[in-house]
Amino acid sequence: MTKFTVNGNPVEFLMDPATPLLWALREAAGLTGTKFGCGAGLCGACTVHVDGKATRSCQVTIADLEGTFVTTIEGLSDNRDHPLQQAWIAAQVPQCGYCQSGMIMAAAALLKDKPNPSDEDINAAMTNICRCGTYPRIRRAIRMAAA
Ligand code: FES
Repeated sequence: MTKFTVNGNPVEFLMDPATPLLWALREAAGLTGTKFGCGAGLCGACTVHVDGKATRSCQVTIADLEGTFVTTIEGLSDNRDHPLQQAWIAAQVPQCGYCQSGMIMAAAALLKDKPNPSDEDINAAMTNICRCGTYPRIRRAIRMAAA
């Protein structure tokens, strides 16, 4: 049994300890806002926070997380008005939308670390992939949320 905290709630996963966090969240916890893209740590669609750091949930097992604090897109804000979510709406960022929860989680970790990021900071932090190419709007929304 693996115990850690998800979105402020203690959870115990009765699953194979080698289960990737992504699948524990989606299949056992019902938190489907975290998306599967590549399963190889490349796309970032599965990004969550582990102890406040952006983490690709397909690349960590639940055994790796004993005692940690995990936050998913569902737990980013109590009332869905996180400044990034407001900026995402105002800038009309999503096209298909599939990658956007991972994008927002990556951006939230960035702004927590650097509230007024430079272009270089944004480039370094935002390595997630968007097939629709919404990168300019993502950058604009991060700037709006940082302002
Ligand atoms: Fe985890 Fe692509 S699904 S990085």
